[in-house]
Amino acid sequence: MATMASEEDKYFEVALGLVKSAGRMVRDAFDRPFSEVQTKASNTDLVTETDQNVEILLTRGLSDAFPDHQFIGEESAAAGKKIEFTDAPTWIIDPIDGTTNFVHRIPMICICVGLAVKKELRMGIVYNPITNELYTARTGQGAFKNGFRIYVSKTEELSKSVIASTLGIHNIVSQGPSWLDKSLSNARRQVEAGVRGIRSFGSAAINMVCVAQGSLDAYVEYGLHCWDVAAAAVILKEAGGVVIDPTGGEFNMMSRKVLCASTKELATQLSGMLTHANYEPEG
Ligand code: IPD
Ligand code: CA
Ligand code: CA
Ligand code: CA
Repeated sequence: MATMASEEDKYFEVALGLVKSAGRMVRDAFDRPFSEVQTKASNTDLVTETDQNVEILLTRGLSDAFPDHQFIGEESAAAGKKIEFTDAPTWIIDPIDGTTNFVHRIPMICICVGLAVKKELRMGIVYNPITNELYTARTGQGAFKNGFRIYVSKTEELSKSVIASTLGIHNIVSQGPSWLDKSLSNARRQVEAGVRGIRSFGSAAINMVCVAQGSLDAYVEYGLHCWDVAAAAVILKEAGGVVIDPTGGEFNMMSRKVLCASTKELATQLSGMLTHANYEPEG
């Protein structure tokens, strides 16, 4: 019987090959005029044929290789597939993270593939095919960018941090209760006043891998889905970073919120500023 390690070597190898093929598909589409952009739940929630085709390529390829594995993917969920997270090996796929960037030809986009086994995240692949930046990690084996080890920054003070966040502007303001909107606006003002700089790249996973490689010091967001964060969370943890709930509790990728930081000290300061904006979404 194959050992867990060699089974996972195989999973990683197959997933990586498929992500690279998907990358070619995204790059080709990025260079061509778009045939069609559709909106889903709202005017800010876009999908293109490429999002759908990439998800098909990845899920077909992985299920051909591993017929008993399960899948959670953004565009299959949008098409009505029920999200079921079981103990089975489960691939969590965001075919394009940063679809708005993709549509606007802003080259901050990535393909995200994470794998959970017995509900524990085991590996993550985040690939920007436009800049050819490939981030990979497997639990216990470190995080890499194009094959080189990456590490988070050592920043402990908020005043020396460059952080990423929109504090859920589009995700929540339209869906959440009005007290939350107000609470996040206050938190945003407080955070903005306390940091060296604030950025948002329009892709949760790119924000997270930027923390993993030390170019950003923290990232906090509300309203995300598991496919936005699963792969990048493995990379960030393996780069030595902290991934928690914004309230300071344990990270749960199904909870639709995340706080990432380079150090525990920074995570604690940020979470202290955000607990009043606690958010428990329904879906
Ligand atoms: C979105 C991006 C964005 C985040 C949104 C996500 P998508 O993913 O990650 O940065 O703020 O919450 O939905 O739709 O481009 O895959
Ligand atoms: Ca989307
Ligand atoms: Ca996404
Ligand atoms: Ca997406």
